[in-house]
Amino acid sequence: MPYDPTSQSNIDELKTNHIHLDLTVDFSAKTLTGSAELELEAITDKVSKVVLDTSYIDVRSVSSNGKALQFDLAKRHEKYGSALTITLGTTLSKGTKTKVNVEYATTQDCTACQWLEPSQTVGKKHPYLFTQCQAIHARSLLPCQDSPSVKLTYSANITTPLRAVMSAVPTGEDKHAAGDKTTFKFEQKQRIPSYLIALAVGNLKEREIGPRSTVWTEPEVLEAAAWEFVDTENFIRTGEELLTPYDWGRYDLLVLPASFPYGGMENPCLTFVTPSLLAGDRSLVDVVAHEIAHSWMGNLVTTENWEHFWLNEGFTVFVERKILGRMRGKAHSDFSAILGKKSLQESVNLYGQDHPFTALRPCLRGEDPDDSFSRVPYEKGFNLLYYLENHLGGAEVFEPYLRAHVQEFAGRSINTDDWKAFLYSFMEKTFGQEKVDLLNKVDWEAWLAGTGMPPVDNKFDDTLAKACTCLCKKWDDSRHTNPPTGFSTEDIKDFSSTQKVVFLENATELVPLPHGHLDTMDKLYELTNVRNSEIRLRWHLLCLKADYEKIYPEVVAFASSMGRMKMCRPLLRSLYKAKNGAELARETFIKHRSFFHPIAAAMIAKDLGLSK
Ligand code: BES
Ligand code: ZN
Repeated sequence: MPYDPTSQSNIDELKTNHIHLDLTVDFSAKTLTGSAELELEAITDKVSKVVLDTSYIDVRSVSSNGKALQFDLAKRHEKYGSALTITLGTTLSKGTKTKVNVEYATTQDCTACQWLEPSQTVGKKHPYLFTQCQAIHARSLLPCQDSPSVKLTYSANITTPLRAVMSAVPTGEDKHAAGDKTTFKFEQKQRIPSYLIALAVGNLKEREIGPRSTVWTEPEVLEAAAWEFVDTENFIRTGEELLTPYDWGRYDLLVLPASFPYGGMENPCLTFVTPSLLAGDRSLVDVVAHEIAHSWMGNLVTTENWEHFWLNEGFTVFVERKILGRMRGKAHSDFSAILGKKSLQESVNLYGQDHPFTALRPCLRGEDPDDSFSRVPYEKGFNLLYYLENHLGGAEVFEPYLRAHVQEFAGRSINTDDWKAFLYSFMEKTFGQEKVDLLNKVDWEAWLAGTGMPPVDNKFDDTLAKACTCLCKKWDDSRHTNPPTGFSTEDIKDFSSTQKVVFLENATELVPLPHGHLDTMDKLYELTNVRNSEIRLRWHLLCLKADYEKIYPEVVAFASSMGRMKMCRPLLRSLYKAKNGAELARETFIKHRSFFHPIAAAMIAKDLGLSK
């Protein structure tokens, strides 16, 4: 039986096989109105009701084959929304199918949707809508069994005045004779969990970037986007060499407006990405490799519930770094792992090393998965797999296993026990008792249930990190020489963007440098004017830690125009803690609140002590 503490649906009684959405987009009312028809199947006997997850959805009526059904919308659970209980009027036995049709509208409070004013887009002329359903926001886009343990196909008719795109394949458009609306039709024929349903509507244009890929975005940035993501097909092909043939037909990209709260979101057939990746030098495309890796890890093999989120993200980071390693060499992928370990340490510090959310497999009963989101599932998960690979004998043993894992579980939702059982059985069947003995030596309890940093400290190739550490030490040693001498623009001339990031991160860990030193560093390395958003973020964080007030206006401008949580949250948190920064951080957030996505706004409000 599937288990999911963050869904109120009766997933132990029924599963959804298909959903058909018929929605009209109203930009002036900021609502989606229409219906969701769910094709359900009883997975046990004596099923007399359907309980669906909803959140801030206005349910108007429910029917089955044209016959009205009774329904009740429960009082809201603070974190999980309002359970919609539909009385079927008959009793279903195991294997029996039925359909329910829910007429509904979204409301202003729906957390899956962000409605942008034209001023919040690049072109400034047209409004924009996009959705973000992971982890548990699909229930505020449509009534559904909002649990990743349930996998379904979907189709949709979306009626709108602007172009619509979805995490599915377009199957046609009907231009309405009257008015200026078009109905865009979509179909997703692969079974997916509800959190992968996605929609965006805006002034969107497309350009081909590969044999199975186009990039979609506003016309003003189309050229730049097509240029930045030329490596897409190489990533997919490398993923196919490592695992199994890419199974989703198309792999398109959608570059969103700046308020998109994540770096990327692996919506099937159409990955959503932040425009902060458009660095103009193709240096931030690892995010695309990551989202492509989800085509296998997460989208084919899916976590059963959010307690096993590491099966999605840890595996994806592992495959992402395998792809990078094959394309650019081990020094590069290990450098990414070093950076990852630092970010894991930061997450552990932020929570505290005994905090339950620093465990690889946390308990989420009563919790909001957004609160448990951190680098832990990504990097502790990655470190477990990296450790297992070395422990079991290297890539020759582990890569065949990875492929078998995908073949075994494709199309299914699994938990950590399922994962571990197959790892044991594959190793035994393929390589014999010797590998089972090695597996028995793993301290599973410490890895899966232990809090804090991983129980094993993996060693990574630090060739690329050394230059960063060296330069950082030179700055540290110069702190008593005023003005600092011996530095020049040459210092970082041969650094990659990631090396600059690591240098600045290392410098942030030092006792703050004198402000005069920061002046010099900025002048020589041109940091305040850097276009690359990852470098700019680290520069701002370094300055904030030193209470370097000159940077505050830059921080305010960056944090209030960049909705990617990885960037705006640490910036505002750090400004909040800096000298004379607390009020400025709160003011900035309050003034720009409508710029931020509802998910980001909720998290920032908590960060700044404006809500619990
Ligand atoms: N699936 C995640 C984004 C996500 C996670 C959204 C949980 C909502 C809840 C996506 O694949 C991701 O991990 N994005 C990263 C980029 C990546 C390179 C680590 C991000 O957004 O920073
Ligand atoms: Zn991911």
